[in-house]
Amino acid sequence: MNILVTGGAGFIGSNLCDRLVSDGETVTVVDNLSTGFLENIQHLLGHSNFHYINDTILNEERMEGLIRDTDCIIHLAAAVGVKYVLENPLTSIETNIKGTEVILRFANRYHKRVLIASTSEVYGKHMHAPLKEDDNLIYGPPSTMRWSYAAAKLVDEFTALAYHRTKKLEVVIFRCFNTIGPRQTGLYGMVVPRFIKQALRDEPITVYGDGTQTRTFTYVGDVVEALVRLMGCDEAIGEVVNIGGRDEISILELAEKIKEISRSSSEITLVPYSNVYGRDFEDMMRRVPSLDKLESLIGYSPNTPLDETLRKTIEYFRSRAD
Ligand SMILES: NC(=O)c1ccc[n+]([C@@H]2O[C@H](COP(=O)([O-])OP(=O)(O)OC[C@H]3O[C@@H](n4cnc5c(N)ncnc54)[C@H](O)[C@@H]3O)[C@@H](O)[C@H]2O)c1
Repeated sequence: MNILVTGGAGFIGSNLCDRLVSDGETVTVVDNLSTGFLENIQHLLGHSNFHYINDTILNEERMEGLIRDTDCIIHLAAAVGVKYVLENPLTSIETNIKGTEVILRFANRYHKRVLIASTSEVYGKHMHAPLKEDDNLIYGPPSTMRWSYAAAKLVDEFTALAYHRTKKLEVVIFRCFNTIGPRQTGLYGMVVPRFIKQALRDEPITVYGDGTQTRTFTYVGDVVEALVRLMGCDEAIGEVVNIGGRDEISILELAEKIKEISRSSSEITLVPYSNVYGRDFEDMMRRVPSLDKLESLIGYSPNTPLDETLRKTIEYFRSRAD
């Protein structure tokens, strides 16, 4: 099968490409390297089943040709990361709304199945757990720019569902919760690579806020497995589905765990959000997915324990530091 992966030089995308190529699929990546790295796919570049195009998904002429010639699209390209979105609010909204609209329009024109990446951020400020796909969504005001990422991804979901309902386009929307593992960069505010880099340098591990906010973390290999299964799952068409981990952990506990596993002598310090993101920032205090729908659709849900995932990720960063 020919599969087009947008954002394939990024963290999740490059791990997905490894799997698809090793499964014998022919993979084309379009990525403008805005937050991705050529290094992530360097080892695939000489492979006869792998093609890389350095371009933006906003180039409509290019995207039309690529989508016409593919069997299926996995759309991961997006402006990602709280820090990146806050520093580039306009580009982020344009990429995340217009970019997805381009993909959906041509997927519809050429009748191609398309998987659209959404995010747990769309749930907003819930305190209850677990979060189910049909829960209400609660956001702060538009003056708090952080919500623009959630709102843009939500527009993507609406647009994809509208194409499905009105044109019968085969769309699957997956909401990723915090995904971690090798190749994730800490440059755009992702917490685990940031903590690991600090721990390996024995620098203070900086926890934002009071550290009581909780998350679950999913190993990228588990997300890749879920995506491969969703791609072939007819029952998932027209559905929104969570992909996330099980074990809820506070960010302070996460810092302690990373310090312990990496045998670091770093101290752990609390930093007010306002020092990092300015005055108009609010965080989500809790984010835990319900995985019932994912399991019922594909008979699988992420299962790599957090300690194992952290060990693999720490090893990756240690080898790069060497
Ligand atoms: N990693 C997570 O924890 C997480 C959580 C929720 C949702 N997601 C979603 O998963 C997807 C992949 O995220 P990731 O963590 O791999 O991030 P990433 O930044 O590593 O990957 C995104 C890729 O898209 C590329 N890109 C951005 N704008 C582009 C454009 N206009 N044209 C072409 N390429 C462009 C970037 O260069 C990058 O390689 C995103 O849609 C993101 O919203 C990720």
